[in-house]
Amino acid sequence: MRGAVVLGASGLVGQRLQQRLANHPMFSLRAVAGSQRTAGMNLVELPWGLEGQAPLLDLPPVLDVQDPGLVEHLRDLGISWAFSAVPSDVALALEPRLVDGGIQVCSNASAYRRRADIPLVIADVNPHHLQTRPEGSVLHACATNCTLIPLLMPYLALHRAFGVRAYEATSEQARSGAGYRLMRGEVPFSFDIPGEAEKTMGELTWIAGDLHEGTVHPSTVDGQMRCQRVDEADGHIIDVVFELSSDATLSEVEAALDGFATHPDAAGLPSAPQNPMMRVEGPVVREQHLWADGLSFPTNVDPATDLQAGMATVVGDLRMDGPRHVRLRSLSHNTVRGAAGGLVLLAELASTRWS
Ligand SMILES: NC(=O)c1ccc[n+]([C@@H]2O[C@H](COP(=O)([O-])OP(=O)(O)OC[C@H]3O[C@@H](n4cnc5c(N)ncnc54)[C@H](OP(=O)(O)O)[C@@H]3O)[C@@H](O)[C@H]2O)c1
Repeated sequence: MRGAVVLGASGLVGQRLQQRLANHPMFSLRAVAGSQRTAGMNLVELPWGLEGQAPLLDLPPVLDVQDPGLVEHLRDLGISWAFSAVPSDVALALEPRLVDGGIQVCSNASAYRRRADIPLVIADVNPHHLQTRPEGSVLHACATNCTLIPLLMPYLALHRAFGVRAYEATSEQARSGAGYRLMRGEVPFSFDIPGEAEKTMGELTWIAGDLHEGTVHPSTVDGQMRCQRVDEADGHIIDVVFELSSDATLSEVEAALDGFATHPDAAGLPSAPQNPMMRVEGPVVREQHLWADGLSFPTNVDPATDLQAGMATVVGDLRMDGPRHVRLRSLSHNTVRGAAGGLVLLAELASTRWS
C-alpha cells in the first residue's frame, strides 16, 4: 500500500478524494492537509459537503500546507503520494515543494496543466502522455478540467471514425463545480464561468495531441464554446454539434460512439469503468444517469466502495443535422470522473511506473 495525503481537507474535491481513498486497494490515506483556517482541526469538525455520510477515517488533525516542516511530517507518516485539490494559486507553490521533497503529486488544480514535463492525463484515454515525465523523476501529473470530459469522449470517438473539423458546444455546469462555498450559498450564484471555455478547448487539443519523442504536439480543431452555471447540484452537461470531415449515417455514428473503448493500459484498474462512455436512446437525464458505471445506471451507490460509479460519460439526444453534423448531449459527474475519480484513476495507472 502506498501512503497518501489529500490536500484540501474541507473542499468538495478533497472530500471526494477522502471518500474514494478510504477503502482503496492500492493507496492508504494517512493524512489530510488544509489552509490555516482548518489546520489543527479534527476531520469530524469539518462539515461534510457531499451526499451521504463522511467515511470513518482515523487520521491525525488536519496538517497545515504552510508548515515549513510539511514534507518531513508526511515522510514520518509513511506518505509518498499527494492528491492535490487546492485552488490553483495555492497549488502553484505547494506542489513543487512536495515534488522537490520526493512526494509524487497528482493534481486536480489547473496550475500545471499543459506544461511540457507535467503530464496532463485521462488515464483511460491518453495514458501514453505519462511518458512526458522524464525517467527517474518524481511524478508530477495533472488531471483535466471537469468540463472537458463530456466534450472530449464523444469528440474522440467521432474524430477517430470520421474526423472532426469543428465543434460548437454549450455547457450546463452544476454548482459543485465551483466548490463548497457556492454549494452552501456563501457566495452569489452566477451564470458566467470566466475563462472556462478557453481552458476546456485548450485541454482538448492537448489531450488529443500526438506524442513525438516525449513531447505533446497539440491537435488542431476549430472549436467554439460557451460555458454557463446551472442551478443543479452535480453533473456537467454539454450540448454540442460536431462537424465531421466525411459523411456518416446515424447508425455509423452510433457504432462509433458505442465502440469507444478504454485504453488497454488502464483496463482493469480499480477506478476504470468497463466502458468510459455509454450511449442512451433518447434524452440524457441528470438524476438517472449521473452515476453511470460503464455497464449500468445505478441510483443508490456508495462511492466509497463502488469506485466505478460516476466514472462513465453518458451521451444521448443524438441526431444528425445532415450527413456531416452530429448533435448530442453528454453528461459527466464533475466531482467524480471530472475530479477525484479521474485523479485516483490517474494515480492507479501511474503507480505501475512510480511506486
Ligand atoms: N469542483 C469540481 O468539480 C472540480 C473539478 C475539477 C477540478 N477542480 C479543482 O479542484 C480544486 C478544489 O476544488 P473544490 O471544488 O474542491 O473547491 P472547494 O470546495 O472550494 O475547496 C477548496 C479547498 O482548498 C482549500 N484552500 C483554500 N485556500 C487555501 C490555502 N491558502 N491553503 C491551503 N488550502 C486552501 C480549502 O480549505 P479551507 O476550507 O480551509 O479554505 C478547501 O479545502 C480546485 O483547484 C478546482 O479548480 C474542481
